[in-house]
Amino acid sequence: MAHQLVLVIDFGGQYNQLIARRIRECGVYCEVKSYKMPIEEIKELAPAGIILTGGPNSVYLESSPTISPEIFSLGIPVLGICYGCQLMAHLLGGKVATTVTSEYGKTETIYDTASLLFDGLPEKAISWMSHTDYIERLPAGFAFSARTAHCPAAAIECPERKLYGMQFHPEVNHTENGTKMLKSFLYRVCGCVGDWTMEDYAQTAIADIREKVGDGKVLLALSGGVDSSVAAALLARAVGDQLTCIFVDHGFMRKNEGDEVEAAFSGWGLNFIRVDAKDRFMGRLNGVSGPETKRKIIGEEFIRVFEAEAKKIGAVDFLVQGTIYPDIIESGTGDAAVIKSHHNVGGLPDYVDFKEIIEPLRMLFKDEVRALGRELGLSNVLVDRQPFPGPGLAIRIIGEITEEKLEILRDADYIFRDEISKAGLDKTINQYFAVLTNNRSVGVMGDGRTYDYTLALRAVETTDFMTAEFSRIPYDVLAAASNRIVNEVKSVNRVVYDITTKPPATIEWE
Ligand code: XMP
Repeated sequence: MAHQLVLVIDFGGQYNQLIARRIRECGVYCEVKSYKMPIEEIKELAPAGIILTGGPNSVYLESSPTISPEIFSLGIPVLGICYGCQLMAHLLGGKVATTVTSEYGKTETIYDTASLLFDGLPEKAISWMSHTDYIERLPAGFAFSARTAHCPAAAIECPERKLYGMQFHPEVNHTENGTKMLKSFLYRVCGCVGDWTMEDYAQTAIADIREKVGDGKVLLALSGGVDSSVAAALLARAVGDQLTCIFVDHGFMRKNEGDEVEAAFSGWGLNFIRVDAKDRFMGRLNGVSGPETKRKIIGEEFIRVFEAEAKKIGAVDFLVQGTIYPDIIESGTGDAAVIKSHHNVGGLPDYVDFKEIIEPLRMLFKDEVRALGRELGLSNVLVDRQPFPGPGLAIRIIGEITEEKLEILRDADYIFRDEISKAGLDKTINQYFAVLTNNRSVGVMGDGRTYDYTLALRAVETTDFMTAEFSRIPYDVLAAASNRIVNEVKSVNRVVYDITTKPPATIEWE
């Protein structure tokens, strides 16, 4: 693809993906690569700029990740962030030492607005710090360009060599004007032109897919989630009726969701098969109450249904998977401390006769996948969909699943989501849903005694779904949801709100 590239060299810091996302938000394409990438390969890629990320180590330890100092003599602009900044100073002859007072969190910072990175921004602002080491002595030719009360080297630079460093993290929201600073680096120092747009991406991706697929047959398992929907839309645009989408409706989707997915893909010219497998799934889950057993049964059954449909089609040339860039980074570049485990329905490739896998979203972040979906004309209902577990509502019903419980949960969940969006909270809360507990208790309704279910509401704010805070939903909104649920949904006489963080709880209740 003909666009400029910025390399984000990963030293294992916790915000590395965030740096890459910010750069892309600035309209510049970037890729995250391990610090182990040989310098020859970096030269071959001829990036417009290089960013060295943070990392958990101290530069002066023998075992710490490092990079060839040649990287600073290529004439390519380099921005070191946190560890990356210290590493640059260390490798160029400066001195890094342990601070007397380490800085963590929001820190008042004084910027030199003569610097290209801070020009036009306020002289004094908050930055986000997280360090115990600092640059005690600058390398030759460098100057300080920002300071805090405890750190004279909050930012350093050598503009002649286009080398810049920030001890703080410009990529996190807590750093005021952080994105503007990154943008200045990209546009003023690296000479980026902002040629990364979803419109271009869509056109290039469609052309590439056409070339690759030729007149071959393509198969895609559509779950109704954002990734598989956007992948389906892209493939449909590229190859039309050479694409078959199989949507296995296991009956555990949220209210109206199955129909919404079907409606969204009518009129795209692809072959769309919706398999109504509700009875099969319910049959196999009869009497099952353990969450892991449910998951296992649903996973297996899903594959069986998919396989049976795929067999009807016969051999296909390509199988599409909705893998996205964070999956690739997390399983690929190296030293980041936590690796997310992926829960997507696994094992499909082993069961279907195909020649090659296409992963059309493999270089995109989630926000970009959504933007691409919009670009392709998918509705917001589909594109803004929250994460949803593959086994669906089946794991949000604690204990045995029955038709009655499914109906209760579907209705209650619908009301909760409706109240959240009426209150305008749907953009800030990352995931919100209802759970049907297995608990029943006494209540009073009219003059009568009831013995009904307790329904739980869960809403979380998170960036990575590995950790999460419960949302501080205003009481009025909770009250409205609770009132409507006990009045409109039969068999629920009590509503509770989950106020645990993850960890120690998880986001789902199962
Ligand atoms: P937990 O409950 O582990 O969930 O805190 C973390 C995130 O993962 C989602 N989740 C799934 N996503 N298939 C998926 O694609 C699954 O089977 C699955 N199970 C959990 C969950 O909704 C939350 O966003």
